[in-house]
Amino acid sequence: MKTLGNKKIGVVGVGNMGASILEGVLTRRLTTPSNVWVYDKVVNRAKSFACRLHVCRASSVAELFKKTDVVLLAMKPQDLANFALEHRSSFRMGQGVISILAGMTTEKIAQALGKHVTIVRAMPNLGAKVGQSMTVICGKNKMALSFAKTLFSGCGEVVMLPEKMLDLVTAISGSGPAYFFNVMELLTDFGVKQGLPPGSQGFWPFKQDWSRAFSEGLQGILRGAAAESDFQKGDDGSCDENVTTREIQKSFSAGASSGHESK
Ligand SMILES: NC(=O)c1ccc[n+]([C@@H]2O[C@H](COP(=O)([O-])OP(=O)(O)OC[C@H]3O[C@@H](n4cnc5c(N)ncnc54)[C@H](OP(=O)(O)O)[C@@H]3O)[C@@H](O)[C@H]2O)c1
Repeated sequence: MKTLGNKKIGVVGVGNMGASILEGVLTRRLTTPSNVWVYDKVVNRAKSFACRLHVCRASSVAELFKKTDVVLLAMKPQDLANFALEHRSSFRMGQGVISILAGMTTEKIAQALGKHVTIVRAMPNLGAKVGQSMTVICGKNKMALSFAKTLFSGCGEVVMLPEKMLDLVTAISGSGPAYFFNVMELLTDFGVKQGLPPGSQGFWPFKQDWSRAFSEGLQGILRGAAAESDFQKGDDGSCDENVTTREIQKSFSAGASSGHESK
């Protein structure tokens, strides 16, 4: 398996995504904790992450830059402008920067940080939390892209696409999981409003049970869809799932056409 070698990686922002990406990299042993440096505005967040995963904690962004070869930017997009104002001069010539900031194009990042940094843009998704992200990366520098590909392979699959696709990818796969949570919430709230019992331990546990049921159902459908696409490619190895998917699709089509007829 390809690893990150001895390159030192620094992460700015160990919130949801920064932490998940690093956990994946460390769990899959793509690097060692001593090669990883973290910094977060919320000092305790960085402290507890560093303590839990035995990685190094920088006491300032300047220290993080000094100690690392590649910096992963994992704060919110709206934090970039202030971050750049404060730290632009600390970036070394050719310093590797990987950004997962939604909507921040390579051009905007280069304007903010300076043209002397080597930028890779990446769009993972929340699946990173369980090692199942689909991450799309883009960039011009082959070595930097190869490093980013290995990095994100720690939390799922990685695909390279041209940058013009990144906004679409952000809307569909980056934000996609959130839409399903919205649907789960809507269905749950609707059910409870219509009189479904709130569960033995109150509303929230009930809500979580439903959410789990929906998400497991959804995973089943997605697995079925994946099997279906294999089938269409000529791989008919997993018959049962194909049949199930076809049956589901038939019933969807029947539902859709009866809906049309009734209009
Ligand atoms: N969440 C997703 O599903 C998802 C998917 C794809 C891409 N992304 C991208 O991933 C990035 C991070 O998202 P997230 O959900 O992980 O956010 P998050 O949980 O809020 O984590 C960001 C962390 O960075 C810290 N931070 C902010 N400014 C900083 C600075 N100047 N220096 C150091 N730390 C700083 C934040 O502190 P404060 O809490 O004090 O601000 C927070 O601890 C975003 O740019 C987003 O567009 C997210």
